[in-house]
Amino acid sequence: MASSSSSAQLLSTPVPLPCGRVVPNRLCKAPMVEMQAPLGGGPLGDKELRIYEEWAEGGWGMIITGNIAIDETHLGTPWDVNFKQSVPSEHMEQFKRYAAVCKSGRAAGGGASAEKPLAIVQLVHAGRQSSRGSGRYPWVPAIAPSAVPMATAKGALPWPISSVFDWALWGPCRAMTTSEVQQLIKRFADSAVLCHDAGFDGVELHGSHGYMLAAFLSPRTNQRTDQYGGSARNRFRIVEEIIKEVRSRVPSSFVVGIKLNSADYVQGGLTEEDALQNVQWLAEMGGCDFVEISGGNYENPSFMMHDFDAEGETRKLSQQDNGGEAAVKPKEVKESTKKREAFFAGFANRAAGMLPKGQEGGKAPMALMVTGGLRSRRGCAQAIEQSSVSLCGMARASALDPKLPLKFCDASLSDERAAVPIPKLAEKPPALMSLLPLKLAGAGWTTLYHAMQMARMVNGKEPDVKAGSWELLKGLFGPQSRT
Ligand SMILES: Cc1cc2nc3c(=O)[nH]c(=O)nc-3n(C[C@H](O)[C@H](O)[C@H](O)COP(=O)(O)O)c2cc1C
Repeated sequence: MASSSSSAQLLSTPVPLPCGRVVPNRLCKAPMVEMQAPLGGGPLGDKELRIYEEWAEGGWGMIITGNIAIDETHLGTPWDVNFKQSVPSEHMEQFKRYAAVCKSGRAAGGGASAEKPLAIVQLVHAGRQSSRGSGRYPWVPAIAPSAVPMATAKGALPWPISSVFDWALWGPCRAMTTSEVQQLIKRFADSAVLCHDAGFDGVELHGSHGYMLAAFLSPRTNQRTDQYGGSARNRFRIVEEIIKEVRSRVPSSFVVGIKLNSADYVQGGLTEEDALQNVQWLAEMGGCDFVEISGGNYENPSFMMHDFDAEGETRKLSQQDNGGEAAVKPKEVKESTKKREAFFAGFANRAAGMLPKGQEGGKAPMALMVTGGLRSRRGCAQAIEQSSVSLCGMARASALDPKLPLKFCDASLSDERAAVPIPKLAEKPPALMSLLPLKLAGAGWTTLYHAMQMARMVNGKEPDVKAGSWELLKGLFGPQSRT
């Protein structure tokens, strides 16, 4: 096993990107919606930007913002930051402050010459996962690649209760016309230009977790018969056209990345083979600087649980394909899998094996970033050494300890101290929520738990893993939390 000093050194090394920019170290704050934007839209206020001050001072090599909705009529949560059709000038000034705050710190590991972190905005369209009434009237359906309704309660609640539950929560969705798809491509590019004008270093397209772009990539939710559906190549076309459109409208040094699923882990969804193909197409077409690897969606959000086992989920699906779960004995999770933090390390390793290693035409290769499960220096170093990824993304760990890169890159700290423990409460929904026999309840709770820890930072307090749920809830919704 690598020593603490060699791991600290490894995590402190810079990563060049194809666009010519350099991530000053391997540690990236992964995207997390803050749930702190004003209802009705706009950027975070000065008070809410305190969280980003913490991360900027924390030594991260790259800070990816919480997702920003490119369409105010399709929000993921009612408190999503979003771009309105035309951004008012006072909002633009605030987005400029947002970018400046993200870049106000210094990345860990480079001594006095350390560079500023790269500030990247994650752009999202929630598509069919925008719940009923989130930014539009409750009776207006969400737009999606195809009219495939959400099924988050199927299997967990008896039919027809499951269907009624999903209908009430999500409502119906409708298939976009080809011209609407083309407008969406333009809208992603318009938003990337806004991010550039605000002073951000780049954007990441949200192409995972079941949102609009992931729904286009999935054969279950994309049943289109035009050029954006049918074959896997056609399903990928929207991503290709967005990246090309963004590239044609921003300077070549602007960073463009994408978060992609390694698999959807639902019946008929994106498979690992499809996902590997997507990574390969991205590398071949050029224009993409990094791919953040994740997996799952709202219909199977198990990736939000700390004991997630990607190989186990894939096995479960093939057992179901072969005639039901009872037909095949479930396999034990391997010891090596239990010890390994990075959920998607296996996929990342296979993806990395397909990519060119060295510089091609003077350009650095597209970087791979793995997010999910990482919470220690040892875990990050292992992901880089054994899975050949370049970058480590951390979401929940960054909400519990915003300054952990300073610890991970400090060779004088032991491995034991360069780690974030999993708070027990984060995995255990309060009694009322546990009554819902849905995977979404557990995933929703762990998301809310970490959003509440972020709210503590907004209120000038440090995250506190000992705080109880009532105290944390008061911080998110209490009178002092919103001014
Ligand atoms: C509070 C919270 C908000 C999140 N918001 C986003 C988001 O806006 N965009 C995104 O791609 N993923 C989001 N995620 C998922 C994380 O980026 C990440 O994929 C997931 O939490 C697993 O990584 P982790 O084990 O490092 O937390 C969110 C997670 C949490 C806990």
